[in-house]
Amino acid sequence: MQTLDVKAERIVLPQDDIPRYWHNLLPELPEPLPDPIPEVGGTPSRKRVMDMMEGVWAKEHIRQEYSDEGQIKIPDEVINYYLHIGRPTPLHRARRLEEYLKTSARIYFKREDTLPTGSFKINTVISQIHYAMKEGFDIMADGTGAGQTGCAVAAVSATMGVKAKIFMVRSSYLQKPLRVAWMKMCGADIKPSPSNETELGRSYLKKNPEDPGSLGVTTVETMDWAKANKAFGLQGSIFNYVMTQQSIMGLEAKKQLELAGEKPDVLIGCVGAGSNFMGFSIPFISDKLKGKTSCRIVDVRPDECAPEVYGEYRYDLLSPGTKGPLYKMYTLGNEFSIPGLVSEGLRFHGVAPMLSLLINKKIVEATSVKEKDVMEAGRLCLEKENFLPAPESAHAIKIAVDEALKAKQKNEKKVIVAHISGGGFLDIGGYSKVLNL
Ligand SMILES: Cc1ncc(COP(=O)(O)O)c(C=O)c1O
Repeated sequence: MQTLDVKAERIVLPQDDIPRYWHNLLPELPEPLPDPIPEVGGTPSRKRVMDMMEGVWAKEHIRQEYSDEGQIKIPDEVINYYLHIGRPTPLHRARRLEEYLKTSARIYFKREDTLPTGSFKINTVISQIHYAMKEGFDIMADGTGAGQTGCAVAAVSATMGVKAKIFMVRSSYLQKPLRVAWMKMCGADIKPSPSNETELGRSYLKKNPEDPGSLGVTTVETMDWAKANKAFGLQGSIFNYVMTQQSIMGLEAKKQLELAGEKPDVLIGCVGAGSNFMGFSIPFISDKLKGKTSCRIVDVRPDECAPEVYGEYRYDLLSPGTKGPLYKMYTLGNEFSIPGLVSEGLRFHGVAPMLSLLINKKIVEATSVKEKDVMEAGRLCLEKENFLPAPESAHAIKIAVDEALKAKQKNEKKVIVAHISGGGFLDIGGYSKVLNL
């Protein structure tokens, strides 16, 4: 009988080995996270800011936001839902890409694009809806950029039997009608933001009826609408508890690398506000802080919107036109007009406070890349590895390719791990536009 030379292409964690605790990095930070300021001109007070979230966030989220527990138990119902959507997601060895690049490096992709709603966002959506329902909420309000959180909220709400109200950044709403259709198929009520449904939205539309919107405005509109309608205000990123709940990705990746007998040299993830990057890298950052690894951990943004590369580290608002809260973060200034990008999920003028602190302390590196090069990297991934990454995720692939080429020049056997935050099926319009297909 002919024997097949089987090479591990996918490192799959058995269902039983799914992590049972999220990793909260807050207690391990090199210095305490600066408290937010409730309103312009005020002084830092996390208590007052958390009081502002009462009634909009679940109490459990308020508890987790500044928790000093290093490990937070994942509820059994959430674990079961994770298994239902196909967690643990695979760690994929990109052998064909390595062969094409003729690199001495080994490239791995952590594949969140395999999840049914198209991206990693569903991880926190499941747990947030779980806690919100336990605390009596029956309307889930969400603000979405690329539409990935919105798709997850719409689908999980439909399954759980609660209503979904979605505000989607207007430029993205117009650019991605298929994501809008998906959410409508799940029965969600979806509005382009700025919208006529909040005072903030109306003030923007008065100035410019075609305002393209931004993640900051959408986030604040969602919170305002949720407050006025006794709905739960779901958070897709930025906040500490979202990073913690996303740590499931990094915890799995760490176990998978151990199974493969690999020690990562470079970890790469794209950043919009930071939950994707942090969720993937928290366990590795923790090891780095403990001196257990010296691996590089690289955050990548689009050239057009890279606060951590050329912005300032200071207090700023999440959205212009609001009075607060203000967070200490890398920012381009809340009035910065972010150009339209195919990677809508990366259009935010700031960086999550926790990630900002780690960049400021040089634990995490930050870089940025050109949109055209990103789209080429996405196409290369499709050609060699047979899946199309979300344009956001293609940022990480672009850096992984650059790192693999550098390793080739020096003949180094580097282990490069890029995080694939989502899939690109519904972004083919954007790829076509930039690549002139
Ligand atoms: C596919 C994809 N990747 C990455 C991101 C960025 O996420 P974060 O805000 O957590 O950095 C988004 C945000 O919408 C996204 O849709």
